[in-house]
Amino acid sequence: MNLKEMVGIKAASYVKDGMTVGLGTGSTAYYMIEELGRRVKEEGLAIIGVPTSYASKEQAEKLGIPVKTIDEVNHVDLTIDGADEISADFHGIKGGGAALLFEKIVASYSKQIIWIVDESKMVNHLGKFPLPVEVVPYGQEQLFRLFQEKGYNPSFRMEENEKLKQTDSGHSIIDLHLDCIEDPLALDEELNQLAGVVEHGLFLSMVNTVIVGKETGPEVIENIR
Ligand code: A5P
Repeated sequence: MNLKEMVGIKAASYVKDGMTVGLGTGSTAYYMIEELGRRVKEEGLAIIGVPTSYASKEQAEKLGIPVKTIDEVNHVDLTIDGADEISADFHGIKGGGAALLFEKIVASYSKQIIWIVDESKMVNHLGKFPLPVEVVPYGQEQLFRLFQEKGYNPSFRMEENEKLKQTDSGHSIIDLHLDCIEDPLALDEELNQLAGVVEHGLFLSMVNTVIVGKETGPEVIENIR
């Protein structure tokens, strides 16, 4: 069993009958959704899934997990998602799979959040992983230039066919190659002020539990801050 599968299965064990569950996106969340599908089918687990991308929606539906949109539910009990980097103080970068906007909306309305990662994603400081910024196409070149001027080393996210990557909402992604983010809270505020920025991949003080995949088994770390 690979580490992503290990943490995916472990995280799915936190899901109880009757829960409304935020379904994350990415190659680690994939295994969690598969395991929930198995539990729905084999154990009769009764849940509602709230997918954070069209890919996760399609996967959940194929597995027979009932899904609703974030607007069709009153609340989300628990969201389980992957992450690209998690710092020692439990801040995270997400959006490597371009699903950051829906992920952050679902996370914002979740009572509990679990992130599932392998060991390589646990870092002291955020920033080695490029920070995704989701922008509306109108004015995106201006934002790009602004990021260049600020020394943020931007690059547009591209598809394999060399077209600009489009998110599920039809926006573009500008990745900021920052190397080290000294003050994530200040950067969060700065990016939120910019016209044309829809969302960014800094997920600050959101996670409750991190499950880290290690060769020796899954390690559960509680954020008690
Ligand atoms: C999707 O946009 C992301 O936020 C993912 O949750 C994150 O990139 C982790 O993905 P993997 O589990 O595929 O590494």
